[in-house]
Amino acid sequence: MNTTLIQQPASHPTKTRLAPTKVANETFLIHDHAGEGHAPVLVPLNAMVIRGAEPVVVDTGMMENQDWFLEDVFSIVEPEDIRWVFISHDDVDHTGNLNALMAAAPNATVIVNWFMQERMGASLGVSPMRQRWVMDGERIDVGDRTLVTVRPPVYDSPTTRGLFDPTTGVYWASDAFATPMLTPVRDVAALDPMFWDEGMLMFNQYVSPWITMAEEHKYQATVDRVQALGASFITGCHTPVIGRAHIDQAIAATRRSNTAVVPPQPDQAVLEQIQLTLAG
Ligand SMILES: [Fe+2]
Ligand SMILES: [Fe+2]
Repeated sequence: MNTTLIQQPASHPTKTRLAPTKVANETFLIHDHAGEGHAPVLVPLNAMVIRGAEPVVVDTGMMENQDWFLEDVFSIVEPEDIRWVFISHDDVDHTGNLNALMAAAPNATVIVNWFMQERMGASLGVSPMRQRWVMDGERIDVGDRTLVTVRPPVYDSPTTRGLFDPTTGVYWASDAFATPMLTPVRDVAALDPMFWDEGMLMFNQYVSPWITMAEEHKYQATVDRVQALGASFITGCHTPVIGRAHIDQAIAATRRSNTAVVPPQPDQAVLEQIQLTLAG
C-alpha cells in the first residue's frame, strides 16, 4: 500500500501516480494532484479511507481522476463493506466521485449536512434515505471508534467540518494546511521547510481571504481548537501527510496566515501567457 510509483494507464499518460499511503493504523491517504506538466507548482488533491469496523471514505476527490480514485479506494476496502462516506464540504475537489462511489457502495450512507445538500442541488445524486446530516462539533459512532467533527481554522465553504479520529490521532483538515508541491510527495518532510511554510501562508489566505479581517483573538481561538486535539497526524485534501514532527510548524504557519504578506494570485496577464502558449 505504501509502494512507489505505479504504471500509468493511457488515460493519464503524463501524470505521476502515488499508491495510497498508510498514515496510521487502518488509515490510508488516497493521492491525486493537479498541475503536473503544465503549471509551476502542483496542488495535492487527496482523500482518505479509515478501515475500521464500519469503513469510512473521507472526501471523494476530483471527477477527472475517477478511475484511479475508485481503484485506490477499492484496493483498501471492498465496495460493499463501505459504511460511511464523509464529505467535508461541497467543493468539486471533495465531491467529484461521490455519486459514483455511492452507486458502487450499496451499503454506504453519505455524511453531509443540510446546507451542503442545499448548495449541491441536483448534483448530489444521493437519496435523502442514504444521507446523514452532521454539523460541526458532533460525534459519529462508526463501530469501533467515535469520530469527531472539528471545523478547521481555514476553510472556503460554510458547510466545512474536519474529522478527528481519537483512536489514531489523525485529523482530516479538509482545505486547511494546504501547500503547493514541486513534485508529488507523500509527506511534508519531503518539502523544503521554507517553501512549505510560505506555501501554507499563501494557500491559507487564498482559501480564506476573510482571515485577514477576523479579530485576532477569534481567529487564534479556532487554531487553538485544532491544536488542542493533540493530533498525531494531520491530513487534508491539499497537503501531503503532516506527521508529528511537523505539526508544530503547520500550526505556527496557520497562526501567522492572517497577517502574512503573500504573493498575488495569477491574473489576466498570466492567462494571456497561457493562451499564447496554447495558440502557439
Ligand atoms: Fe474547498
Ligand atoms: Fe479543496
